[in-house]
Amino acid sequence: MSNNLTRRKFINNSGAIAAGSLVVPSLSTFASSLQAQAKLKVAMVGTGIRGTSFWGRRVAQNYSNELEFVGFCDRNEGRAKLANKLVGVDCPSFTDFDLMMTTVKPDLLIVTTMDSTHHEYIIRGLGYGINVITEKPLTTDEVKCQAILDAEKKSGKKVIVGFNYRYGILFTAIKEQIATQKIGDLTSVDFHWYLNTYHGASYFRRWHGERDKGGTLLVHKATHHFDLLNWFIDSDPVEVFAYGSLEHYGSNNTFRGEKCRNCAYTDKCKFYWDITKDKRSMELYVENEKYDGYIRDNCLWREEIDIYDKMAVQIKYANNVSVSYSLTTYSPYEGWRIAFNGMNGRIDSWEDIPWRQEEKVNQAELHAKEMNQETKREDARYDEIIVMQNWKDYELIKVKHSGSGHGGGDSRLQDKIFKTPDMADPLKHSAGTRDGAFSILIGIAARKSIEEKRPVRIEELTDLVPMAKRQV
Ligand SMILES: NC(=O)c1ccc[n+]([C@@H]2O[C@H](COP(=O)([O-])OP(=O)(O)OC[C@H]3O[C@@H](n4cnc5c(N)ncnc54)[C@H](O)[C@@H]3O)[C@@H](O)[C@H]2O)c1
Repeated sequence: MSNNLTRRKFINNSGAIAAGSLVVPSLSTFASSLQAQAKLKVAMVGTGIRGTSFWGRRVAQNYSNELEFVGFCDRNEGRAKLANKLVGVDCPSFTDFDLMMTTVKPDLLIVTTMDSTHHEYIIRGLGYGINVITEKPLTTDEVKCQAILDAEKKSGKKVIVGFNYRYGILFTAIKEQIATQKIGDLTSVDFHWYLNTYHGASYFRRWHGERDKGGTLLVHKATHHFDLLNWFIDSDPVEVFAYGSLEHYGSNNTFRGEKCRNCAYTDKCKFYWDITKDKRSMELYVENEKYDGYIRDNCLWREEIDIYDKMAVQIKYANNVSVSYSLTTYSPYEGWRIAFNGMNGRIDSWEDIPWRQEEKVNQAELHAKEMNQETKREDARYDEIIVMQNWKDYELIKVKHSGSGHGGGDSRLQDKIFKTPDMADPLKHSAGTRDGAFSILIGIAARKSIEEKRPVRIEELTDLVPMAKRQV
């Protein structure tokens, strides 16, 4: 058996599922002998910014011993062709998915298309008998979620969900404090996430602003946060109640243009964004508008925006922990706060709350840095965790701040998948499709709760049964 076949067999037979848990001993065990051998053949569908940068260029540069890109597919012909240049490789590009799959016969498919289309390619990829890595969210509604779970079961192959936040340095340090029972058994959690007027607004400029494309930010964005909660609490959600409204963006403004580029209100609109100054966005989006009409600098005030910009969610877990979560999208600063109440104490942590930091943070620069999905940045700051046990003084834990993508989670996730899959996993960073599903099911239940004005049971949505102890 050639090493190529051996590696393919390992990939195909990998027992664990999601981000980080892809068991591909061939990738590590045979790493040294791979150079002369054929490599794992990887195809990608969805060659937008996340595909070409994080799963494209970064992977091609860092894991060239283990894999090679063999095909790119996008419904936009221009972006499909551009992928080679952006990723820095040379392979055929397609607009026809089946033609790509039958022509290049990949061992692994990476899905980085618009959220509402993930299920289509995940299911078709599994149908070709290979494992699939998909970007979050797993999908955008419960019917598609069930279809993915069924297809995975039927195929015997695995779907890997790209949860990067779990791997962040600060989140990992918080998980350590909880897992070591510093405050005893958890009873409740407060989690509040603030998107600033740059990052928050960016979701309303394009497809994310329409619920049939991104499933609302309760799914598109909060899937990260709900996954963190599920992981911290180590239990499955059972019931969700939520409020949500659209009060800031969309039709809430008195004026609107067609798009920023030709807007008559650039002097007046605080959210004006000159895309022509952003070389990458011009190349990736503006130059390819002619193929599909995808406008990257759409007006934030357009009438068709139908997602929430303010969300509050209550979640009850199978182990009785209750959660209060909120997400806002037009905060003057970007950051989050979390607090865990336990039987024996409390843990508090936060990130990027400006007055907690010694130096001033420029919110526009902060957003630009976070959007740069390739470079590693040095950062001298520390983040803080306060652990306070009942009747005792508090303990301040300082964690070195990571300025790299998603708190350092981006690179650690990929290393775990492609370089060190066999590494011990004491904090259970590895996640399965079960985790991918439960994180979106909270958002889907929240959406349903807002629409139907009632608490929604997670069991109503798919055949997954919530367990008091999260199953890995
Ligand atoms: N984990 C993270 O932190 C993170 C960060 C950014 C984006 N993402 C995810 O990555 C995915 C891509 O996001 P993005 O920011 O690159 O978006 P994007 O709009 O830049 O790219 C999406 C690409 O998919 C293509 N596409 C859309 N529908 C398609 C279809 N039916 N068939 C084939 N191609 C299709 C578009 O033409 C576009 O090129 C999304 O699912 C998003 O949620 C995750």
